[in-house]
Amino acid sequence: MGVVVLDFGSQYTLLIARRLRELGAFSVVLPGTASLQEILAYDPQAVVLSGGPASVLDPDAPRPDPGLLSSGLPLLGICYGMQLLAHHFGGRVARKAGEYGKAVLARHEGPLFRGLPGEIQVWMSHSDAVIEPPPGWRVMAGTEDCPIAAIASPNGRAFGVQFHPEVVHTPQGKQILANFLDLAGVERDWTPARMLDSLLDRVRCRAAGKRVLLGVSGGVDSSALALLLSRAGVDHLAIFVDHGLLRQGEREEVEEALRPLGVNLQVVDARRRFLAALKGVTDPEEKRRRIGHEFIEVFREASREFGPFQVLAQGTLYPDVIESAGGTGAANIKSHHNVGGLPTELGFELLEPFRYLFKDEVRELARLLGLPDEIRLRHPFPGPGLAVRIPGGVTEERLEVLRRADAVFIGALKEHGLYDRVWQAFCVLLPLRSVGVAGDERRYGYVIALRAVTSVDGMTADWARLPQGFLDEVARRITRRVPEVGRVVYDITSKPPATIEWE
Ligand code: XMP
Repeated sequence: MGVVVLDFGSQYTLLIARRLRELGAFSVVLPGTASLQEILAYDPQAVVLSGGPASVLDPDAPRPDPGLLSSGLPLLGICYGMQLLAHHFGGRVARKAGEYGKAVLARHEGPLFRGLPGEIQVWMSHSDAVIEPPPGWRVMAGTEDCPIAAIASPNGRAFGVQFHPEVVHTPQGKQILANFLDLAGVERDWTPARMLDSLLDRVRCRAAGKRVLLGVSGGVDSSALALLLSRAGVDHLAIFVDHGLLRQGEREEVEEALRPLGVNLQVVDARRRFLAALKGVTDPEEKRRRIGHEFIEVFREASREFGPFQVLAQGTLYPDVIESAGGTGAANIKSHHNVGGLPTELGFELLEPFRYLFKDEVRELARLLGLPDEIRLRHPFPGPGLAVRIPGGVTEERLEVLRRADAVFIGALKEHGLYDRVWQAFCVLLPLRSVGVAGDERRYGYVIALRAVTSVDGMTADWARLPQGFLDEVARRITRRVPEVGRVVYDITSKPPATIEWE
């Protein structure tokens, strides 16, 4: 059912999968060199071969299973994927000077381009090019610099496009992909509810007869995972480590959200231990290192105490996989928000049901699983928590001041309907005392910096243009309700050059 996308290392592979899902087709990404058997295990109705940095002229270049190419399954090769098809079926590929950026398909024909205007803009990013189509294949489109920009097989079941239909710079790309799905007869009835059913089946199958351990952080991914295991009826234990660096009320919210939905939740109170580990540490990377170390220790002890477990479940998302493994599909874990090192150390099997999902898809699943919006739509929060929002030394007193100020800011954003309009918002407590007046007295208080940004993925960010009246109200509320704070400032730096967090 659906489409298997074979990943040959393109930075856009995730976008292909995403566009297909937006078109209602189930899609799963496998390494480009997956065997025919592995591909057929998904019973796909079509296969897409992604782009990639290699050259088909290189003997070591990654290639699909030849059995796939002669299987008769509908195929769409994109960029390197098209070159693979051309090369395999006897066409000619040559190294060229390279073409990057916008181009215009001045001519195109055939069912892949059905419904499109005469000239369309496409996005090119390639060095090699097909200079002669395989015998019997037809050239279906060309640009000025790339006369063979699309090809179709004699039986009309396999296609290649040199450009990238999956990126926004090919404005009609989605229509081209939709045409391919129609030509291949791919069902387009993939809904979040079906996605949930399929995940439940897979999790039940993988965890049958085993005990599953997972860490929940209070974020949407790990909370949704805990709910998925609970709904699947899997024997599990979810460990929530309270490291004392959480936002106000976070621990209680997680408990209230997950326990009633059947999650077997164990809260480990490790606040003193983390604070002790952070004592006197001011370097941000050292803070992160110590927190990571402590976290693994606490988790390991808990797994021993409540174990044995055979499986460790993690809420790794597809973008994490891409980021940490360069798109090769290797089981590489981003250390900062997963329990790095644990699976291999403790001999766990790894269960990552969200490995091929995007954040918004997990949010949708979480909704179906009953996760309250409070958690489901919460802003991202760094693993090291409030420790990286207190430049300099972390003390219990500073944490408490920060938590209270942050709660005022976040509460006000929600009250004014602004919370969902920014990507992330929080307070930073500056370790300096600024002078102020209270009555007739000079008073020294902490400085709180408000940070609110808009962003798509956190890679770049713009400071949020919050209304002045709103900022004024927040500053007044914080200084009134948190008397330890003497001054409130608003951070108006974008990323780059600044980062979102202050440390
Ligand atoms: P920066 O500050 O690098 O943050 O612009 C980008 C996004 O990443 C989050 N962040 C972290 N998340 N561990 C995490 O799990 C970390 O050490 C960490 N540092 C930053 C940050 O909150 C923002 O969403």
